[in-house]
Amino acid sequence: MTAGEFFARLPIPIIQAPMVGASSFEMALGVSEAGGLGSLAAGALGPDAIEAQAQAFRAASAAPFAINLFVNAPARPSGETVAAALARLAPWYAELGQPLPEPPNDFAPDFEAQFAALLRAAPPVASFTFDRLRKEQAEALHGVGSLVMGTATTVAEARAWAEVGADAICAQGAEAGGHRGHFLAETEASLVGTMALAPTIRAAVDLPVIAAGGIMDGRSVAAALALGAAAAQMGTAFLLSEETAVSAPWRAAIETAADDPTRLTRAFTGRHARGIENRFMREMRPIEGEVPAYPVQNRLTQPLRAAAARAGEAGMISLWAGQGVKLAPTGRSAELVRRWWDEAREVSRTVAARTGAAT
Ligand SMILES: Cc1cc2nc3c(=O)[nH]c(=O)nc-3n(C[C@H](O)[C@H](O)[C@H](O)COP(=O)(O)O)c2cc1C
Repeated sequence: MTAGEFFARLPIPIIQAPMVGASSFEMALGVSEAGGLGSLAAGALGPDAIEAQAQAFRAASAAPFAINLFVNAPARPSGETVAAALARLAPWYAELGQPLPEPPNDFAPDFEAQFAALLRAAPPVASFTFDRLRKEQAEALHGVGSLVMGTATTVAEARAWAEVGADAICAQGAEAGGHRGHFLAETEASLVGTMALAPTIRAAVDLPVIAAGGIMDGRSVAAALALGAAAAQMGTAFLLSEETAVSAPWRAAIETAADDPTRLTRAFTGRHARGIENRFMREMRPIEGEVPAYPVQNRLTQPLRAAAARAGEAGMISLWAGQGVKLAPTGRSAELVRRWWDEAREVSRTVAARTGAAT
């Protein structure tokens, strides 16, 4: 089946975004069972857990699902780089009464081992961010029957994914919460809004486009389809759902967010990501350009963020969320997906009446 056919047959063209630290197995299951496409966020999982999740999903449902990985090369920072990064973080650890971590041996799960597990899991859709696959990796996924979806933040990245044989492009607009998926140009040149990005990629590359970034309800699902997208991928819209995995202080920060609360930062992880601005982001801003690149900084701040979450200290947690966060609803994920689809159909009827298309 081509990706075009796959998305055309999906009863509800909504993909629940994979969200390490925020989505859950139950969320993905609920969305897929409702007729959308649930995604299992496997970026931080080891090979066994990836296979186990795929097996559990298949045991629970016959519906399709996606598994998502971060395309990453092993990080080998120098001892000085790690020591300097830890020294920058020392006052934050001290404030929480936490010991400064020892320099770790590993900074992220081994991508090649994750990828081998993904091939064994053979999900209906395999999605990727942070870089593109090699051609033979895309071919291997095709060999096990998986469709390949690559994240692009620019037209050039969409073309790069098409070159290696991707089946669909996830166009990640600047509005999106969480990490930026760019891998060709610098961050500043990779911040195109969803409304411009989805149709320009659609025009440049002959593959189904999935629009992502700022899609919070049925209105924006309808808008994504109007832009030529085959489906809408939504992340922030699920953060307050019943199946969310966000910590209590993260949830409270979403519920009480000010107007226009998000900013980009690389202070937490060494890769630009969008979240609700807090004290760590503000105070690290003058030196955030100096922190080591992902995944090194990510690994070094992990214990800090975990301790802050336990202590209810939202000022030191990565509060990833997109620009539409004020619209995040509560409810069961399956019900949200059904409601957004009903709304999208209603909005389309209203637009058709206004444009005269209904007559
Ligand atoms: C909390 C959070 C975690 C995320 N983690 C991932 C991830 O693990 N893999 C991935 O490909 N994208 C991840 N994303 C980005 C989403 O795939 C998607 O681009 C984004 O949620 C779309 O924008 P929206 O948040 O405005 O809906 C994450 C987004 C959020 C909000």
